Amino acid sequence: MQLDTLLVNCGQLLTMDHETAHAKGEQMGFLPHIQDGAIGWKDGIITFIGTSEEAKSLECPNVIDCQGKLVTPGLVDPHTHLVFGGSREHEIALKQQGVPYLEILRQGGGIHSTVEATRNASFEDLYEKAAFHLKRLVSYGITTVEAKSGYGLEKHAELKQLEVVKKLKEDTGMEIASTFLGAHAIPKEYKENPDSFLSEMAGLFEEIKEKELAEFVDIFCEEGVFTIEQSKRFLQLAKEAGFSVKIHADEIVSLGGTELAIELGAASADHLIAASDGAVGMFGRSDTVAVLLPGTTFYLNKDSYAKAREIINGGGAVALATDFNPGSSPTENIQFIMNLAMLKLKMTCEEIWNAVTVNAAKAVHKDDVSGRLKIGRNADVVVWNAPNYQYVPYHYGVNHVHTVFQKGVEAAK
Ligand code: NIG
Ligand code: FE
Repeated sequence: MQLDTLLVNCGQLLTMDHETAHAKGEQMGFLPHIQDGAIGWKDGIITFIGTSEEAKSLECPNVIDCQGKLVTPGLVDPHTHLVFGGSREHEIALKQQGVPYLEILRQGGGIHSTVEATRNASFEDLYEKAAFHLKRLVSYGITTVEAKSGYGLEKHAELKQLEVVKKLKEDTGMEIASTFLGAHAIPKEYKENPDSFLSEMAGLFEEIKEKELAEFVDIFCEEGVFTIEQSKRFLQLAKEAGFSVKIHADEIVSLGGTELAIELGAASADHLIAASDGAVGMFGRSDTVAVLLPGTTFYLNKDSYAKAREIINGGGAVALATDFNPGSSPTENIQFIMNLAMLKLKMTCEEIWNAVTVNAAKAVHKDDVSGRLKIGRNADVVVWNAPNYQYVPYHYGVNHVHTVFQKGVEAAK
């Protein structure tokens, strides 16, 4: 057996190697793992998994004693708005006065403010900024990430954002899923004519596909943004152009975006805070993953959270994500999201780990490469300053990562 690195004495080694592509319903209560495990790799590919006892007979030039620490697959963040110009701390006072998120948007702030900053930013500046945030996401244990455009809202600036994602993918070698979110808001120039704006965005599908700039198309289906009918038409065109689809669904007002995502066979329906009871129960009969973003509810200062328990009890698959963006969730800390999932979504610790590994990978169609530890797969591995898997959702607000290995190489701290 070929090995260049071998981790031994992994107190709990979560392999997450379910028999199925992801974990739905009750299955989210199970964590495939090895007690006192060992894992080894060669040239970034996993070549051994077993117990520390079994690893004793192996020869390896670099044996690392994990001293009983928790070891898991690299986490998958299936929903971020990674590339943007500027920031929005100037809106703090409005937030504190209780001006609602959609009202700030209606007044021309919010997403519109970030659109202006993103349009004005050079490719290089956007790249440097996104690379900085990406490095911070990795520092919290994330080795696979999804990144959306959506702060250009016109051809040149949308393509600029997608090109940044493509270059980050090439330069870092990281698993990055790219999503075209040209339908993120109605730009001021099209205020009276959202349909022609959507036609313009749909007009980019062919070029995006040809240049391999994105695998997914997403839309913000929300009151005052895009209606159910507009979302349906837009995403049907996206599917015809060969994309998989996602929806920012029922984030603030219950419009039925969740039902639409399931009807369209979307890879995921995201947010779902205001999803109807009927919609929540539909995930059990569907392969659409419910991507929940409790950091957004927290940061929008809302009282009610997405109904994770009902989705899981109804047989559905839940994933968790940061929703990292400059407005509704300015954080790269997926571990804080795991804390919120425990406290506010009432998810069990087993469900939480499934939600940030296999289910998150499924939501971004990376389940063949990410989210589980298995011979032949990338050595995307995290060693945690934690004695067991419950400890990470429990001890909140700090970073528990000890070491992140990306394709076998230790990530810079
Ligand atoms: O997922 N709701 C729409 N999009 C983002 C927020 C974007 C922003 O405020 O800049 C979200 O919450
Ligand atoms: Fe989002």
